[in-house]
Parts: sequence; structure tokens; C-alpha cells
Amino acid sequence: MTSGLEDVVAAETVLSDVDGRNGRLIVRGVSLDKLVVESRFEDVVGLLFEGFFPDGGAIGRALGEARSAVFAEMQADAAVVAMPPVEGMRALLARLGDGDDLATALRLVAAPAVFCTALLRLGKGLAPVPPEPGLDHAVDTLRMLHGPMPSSEQAQTLNRYLVTVADHGLNASTFAARVVASTQAGLTSSVLAALSALKGPLHGGAPGPVLDMLDDVAAPENAPQWLENALARGERLMGFGHRVYRVRDPRADALKGAVRMLAGSGAIEPRRLALAEAVEAAALELLKQRKPDRPLDTNVEFYTALLLEALGFPREAFTCVFAMGRVAGWIAHAREQAVEGRLIRPMSVYVGPVPQVAA
Ligand code: COA
Repeated sequence: MTSGLEDVVAAETVLSDVDGRNGRLIVRGVSLDKLVVESRFEDVVGLLFEGFFPDGGAIGRALGEARSAVFAEMQADAAVVAMPPVEGMRALLARLGDGDDLATALRLVAAPAVFCTALLRLGKGLAPVPPEPGLDHAVDTLRMLHGPMPSSEQAQTLNRYLVTVADHGLNASTFAARVVASTQAGLTSSVLAALSALKGPLHGGAPGPVLDMLDDVAAPENAPQWLENALARGERLMGFGHRVYRVRDPRADALKGAVRMLAGSGAIEPRRLALAEAVEAAALELLKQRKPDRPLDTNVEFYTALLLEALGFPREAFTCVFAMGRVAGWIAHAREQAVEGRLIRPMSVYVGPVPQVAA
């Protein structure tokens, strides 16, 4: 038995290839470094959906219209607003109807951006900002969050983030989506299962704790001792390590570039960036000493934390923003699994007590 299904192949996919040895990510034949500089999020949704829905390749304005439809039907009552944002989002998603068509898929892609921004505003006593269907998804998301139009650096940065996280092989949430899809339950059910898996701190819940760590470290010179103490307490350093990558996560570099762009435009204080770089360097050094046989490098979540903070998302909503991007991959994988038509049903080995056989 392989604990955690490590190295077990559970699906064939045309969607993405995570090359853990060489630190490369390919999404439908396009390498991540090319995708992040050339594509809008809607283009990547189209790329992932191509062939899985009739007209799946042409997204554009249809996604904007889906934002408006989701916004019009949203019923965010006081109980939902009082929940942590990711739980509020889960509750609102559960109200969307199930289906396997492109209209359902687009509503599900639109929903995390609409729900997250509305819940954050309602939590502050502000009215939600209705979507503008003609805008790009990243631009409109920041507009729905803050009210005014974002700067082009801000919009480009969020777009780069959404593209970077849109798909990533058979990660825990995507696998959850595929298991549900294999029962033919429908896309909404798949996305709901995936969001629930994403929420955990070992998967999509890490960037909030990365910021807590930076705040606690407070100054670059404190980093080595702080990290040493955390490891001595048996804690894991958030933003480091990965099940598949044995070298640096290529998404970390894609996002570090975006963070540097934001810092250049004044949206991130140079002191904050210097602190993060000092913590990263000290953590890598320490992890190398402590675990010489297990390469542990920076993962996607480390620079995600700085990036989302600079864009004005509160840390308790970071998992919701991850879902805004990853929902595209969840849906494409769910469709790929449903089209294959084979129920996912592995075996377990019973290790509990057995009944006494009567003499
Ligand atoms: N900090 C300190 N030690 C770490 C570590 C980290 N971030 N990640 C792994 N390790 C250690 C483990 O404690 C384990 O040590 P042991 O053999 O002495 O018990 C060893 O490295 C192997 O870890 P393992 O649990 O087998 O790795 P995994 O493949 O299951 O873990 C993660 C992958 C992502 C869950 C893990 O690296 C982690 O918890 N990272 C922090 C959370 C995070 O950033 N999540 C976002 C992922 S994109």
C-alpha cells in the first residue's frame, strides 16, 4: 500500500503535466512561463475547456455574463456573511444548480470571484459591487472588491496569479473533483468537493499562515532563530515543500516576478519584500541542513501570500482567491473524468479485528 497514494497514477489527462524532477509545468502543451506572460485568465479557461464542451474554446464575454447571472441570484444572508470567507463561499456555491453543460461550468468559474468579493464587502458593511460583463475577469474581480478600477499592474498581477494556479495535475482538490465526477454527480458537486479539499492548510490554506509567519518574524535578522524554533516545535514551514516537486516550484518564480513588479510600482513596501526574501533564504538553508535527503524548496504559496496581500485581499480570504483560479482546472478534470465514464473506486486493506471463529 502507498500511503497518501504517493507516485500512484490514478488518471490519464491531456490537461497539465507537473514535472517534479525538472520543476516544469505544462498546461495543454503550453509551458507555464509562456502562459503567464501571454494569456488572460479567460484564454486559459478556454484552453482547458477545449474539446470538453461544445464551444468550450471561446470564453471571453460569456464569463462576464456568467458573473452577472451569479451576482443576480446570490443570496448572501447574515449567517453566510458571518462565516469565514471560504465557508461562506462553500455555502453559496452549494446553492447553484448541478449540471454538466458549458453554462453551468461558466457560472462555476464566475462564482468564486463574485462570492468572495461580495462576502468581503458585506463583512465590512459595504454593498457588493455588481459585475461589469465587458471587463476581463481579473480587472472585474478587483473592481468588485474595491469599487474603483484597478491599476494595470494590479490587474496584470491578479491575472498572472489566476493563470499560474489554474491547473496543476492531480492535486488533492482536483482528485476530489474527479472522484465526484466519476459518479456522474455533476459539475457543481465536483467543485464543492474540490473547494472543501482546497481549504486545508496542507493544500490551499497555506498562504494565510505564511503572512502570520512573516508578521511574527518581524525583521530579517530574526528569521534563522524563529524558523529554528518552529522546526524544534515540530512545525512545518508554510510555503515550503511539495509532494511532487523535488526542485523549486516553477509557480513560485512566476509569482515572485509578479511580486517584484508590484514592488516596483510601490504596491509592496521594499521592507516587506526584503523580510520575505530573508525568511525564504533562511528557511531553505535550514531545511537543507535538517532534511538533507528530502529536497524541500519554495512552493507556490510563499509568494502568493505577498501578492494577494498587496492586492488588498485579507489573509482569511486567500483560499477563496486560489479557488478563483483553480476552479478552471477542477471543471476541466471533472469533465475529462465524466467523459471517460469509469467510476473511481479503489480498494482498502482491512487491518481491524476479525470475528472469533466458533470452535
Ligand atoms: N517544513 C518542515 N518540514 C517539512 C516541510 C515543511 N514545509 N514539508 C515537509 N517536511 C518534512 C516532513 O516533516 C517529513 O519529515 P519526516 O520524514 O522527518 O517526518 C519530510 O519532510 C517529508 O514530508 P512528507 O510529509 O512526506 O511530505 P509530503 O509530500 O506529504 O508533503 C506538503 C507535502 C506540501 C504537505 C508539505 O511539504 C507541507 O506540509 N508543506 C507546508 C504546507 C504548504 O506550504 N502547503 C502548500 C503546498 S503547495
